[in-house]
Amino acid sequence: MQPERQAKPVLLFFEDERESAGQLAQAGNLDLVVIERHRFPDGELKLRLPARLPAQLAILRTLDNPNEKLLELLLTAQTARQLGAKQLTLVAPYLAYMRQDIAFHAGEAVSQRIVGQFLATLFDAVVTVDPHLHRIERLQQALPAANTVVLSAAPLLSDLIAARRPHALLVGPDEESLQWVARAAARHGFEHTVCRKIRHGDRSVQIELPRAAITGRPVVLLDDVASTGQTLAAAARLFVAAGAVSVDVAVTHALFEENAMPLLLEAGVTEIWSSDCIRHSSNAVSMAPELAKALLQALTAKVGQYTG
Ligand code: R5P
Repeated sequence: MQPERQAKPVLLFFEDERESAGQLAQAGNLDLVVIERHRFPDGELKLRLPARLPAQLAILRTLDNPNEKLLELLLTAQTARQLGAKQLTLVAPYLAYMRQDIAFHAGEAVSQRIVGQFLATLFDAVVTVDPHLHRIERLQQALPAANTVVLSAAPLLSDLIAARRPHALLVGPDEESLQWVARAAARHGFEHTVCRKIRHGDRSVQIELPRAAITGRPVVLLDDVASTGQTLAAAARLFVAAGAVSVDVAVTHALFEENAMPLLLEAGVTEIWSSDCIRHSSNAVSMAPELAKALLQALTAKVGQYTG
């Protein structure tokens, strides 16, 4: 008699993330199942999952352009539970809404807490990369799921920088970026520092350079996320003017709106590198192997074992 084959863990994904799902499945030896998605003429969505699901299930959804994806996750998670899933893990390489972490003005929604709690009601475990945690230390403080796993792209970006700009000064464009810059710097012994930033609006930031020897040095600006690119562009202009021999950019999450790349190049940036947490032409390092490893651990973890 043939020994019974152990079923592979199942990863649900949406068609627009087929490539990322494929890489994750290959790295983790997972079975892939696409979620069928239909948009009605009035804009509403219909999702269809397989009629029978295993008790332990993972769903991949990176949360750039997050609004509709959050609704998809609500529909998916509740349907999956009705179809037999008992333990649901979300793999969200980019976790949205983490930057609005306080009410900066009276009456503002604290999106970090609200979205975090929403996801915690849907999922038992969440695996993510470099979430923007600034005023809190652990993701579970914002997203109180039973298990949260926080990975970082900083080591891989650091390896890339060490190969391409071995004598770089690593610089964070604002004080919030220190955690990622310090981590990347420690791995290869890079000198590092951060700028000061004052934000005046969505596309208007003011940057103050740190006290550091800049003339004749290669500078790499490193941050968790870039969106309009204004923060990095403002910093790049100042470093070019201060005599940096080159200015490059490394980010975990390439949200980059359409004009961001031309803006950075105009500002004097030479190379732009990102992780593949969000698919973009700048992707230079892949988080798939680490995400797969963390996902497999989360699927077999006892509640509370892997926390971040
Ligand atoms: C905020 O602190 C983040 O780390 C980034 O610096 C910010 O989101 C970048 O935004 P933008 O590219 O629109 O300037």
